[in-house]
Amino acid sequence: MGAEHQSWPALEAALKGGGRKDLLPASSLYALAAVEMGLAYVNFTPSTGASIPALLELAEKTGSVVSGKDGKTGETLMKTVLAPMFAHRNWKILSWVGHNIFGNRDGVVLDDPANKAAKVRDKDAVIPNIVGYKPNTLVSIEYIPSMDDWKTAWNHIHFQGFLGTKMILQFIWQGCDSLLAAPLVIDLVRLSILAQSRGEKGVLSQLACFYKAPMGTRVNDFFVQFDTLKNYLESCRAK
Ligand SMILES: NC(=O)c1ccc[n+]([C@@H]2O[C@H](COP(=O)([O-])OP(=O)(O)OC[C@H]3O[C@@H](n4cnc5c(N)ncnc54)[C@H](O)[C@@H]3O)[C@@H](O)[C@H]2O)c1
Repeated sequence: MGAEHQSWPALEAALKGGGRKDLLPASSLYALAAVEMGLAYVNFTPSTGASIPALLELAEKTGSVVSGKDGKTGETLMKTVLAPMFAHRNWKILSWVGHNIFGNRDGVVLDDPANKAAKVRDKDAVIPNIVGYKPNTLVSIEYIPSMDDWKTAWNHIHFQGFLGTKMILQFIWQGCDSLLAAPLVIDLVRLSILAQSRGEKGVLSQLACFYKAPMGTRVNDFFVQFDTLKNYLESCRAK
């Protein structure tokens, strides 16, 4: 990100200057169109979208509400539910390995090394953020066409308990990707409209529990995120 991305006047001037086709990725051009019109923008993908200071500044001006990034629907949801348990029982996570195979169009897209790197980064960052140290982690994503819209994630968690005893938790997640995502997308739309009807602007950090890499907060712990959403909705009801 360059100096022109840091404020809306700088980005607007750079865009008007033309010439630079690489100024914004496609996802951010879509975000700009929505934000400029004061519409709500939800980013369920790992792409950059509205997460650029200049676009966030513009959202405050136009009354647009934005949230993202990267829907938390399966393996990462499990990670952000389980990691707090290790922290609260004072078990040290030594390594966390996750192998993912799936066969839908997202699988084809993630076969591209650059797209895969962004997804792996989102999936990999949540555990250190929750437990406060970096265990040895490995995330793999492979495209297996015969799986269609189904995703299998095998996770192997090696951890250390009382008196340094090493133990293992393994789980296998088998989910239907689109059906996991659809109700979250519906809720995100409803919650974005609710926020906008209340005069909120800019990043909706109360929606963090829906995302792998939430905007506006560094909290990844699902329970803390969910409490934030619950408290927010209770405060909406009270008014
Ligand atoms: N469980 C989930 O499904 C899940 C979870 C987290 C994140 N995501 C993210 O959501 C996104 C969509 O996933 P999907 O499984 O629905 O993928 P998909 O490939 O089935 O659907 C993507 C759709 O976007 C359209 N599209 C592509 N480029 C476009 C463009 N430039 N303009 C307009 N439309 C365009 C395609 O035609 C397609 O209909 C991916 O980035 C994925 O990483 C999905």
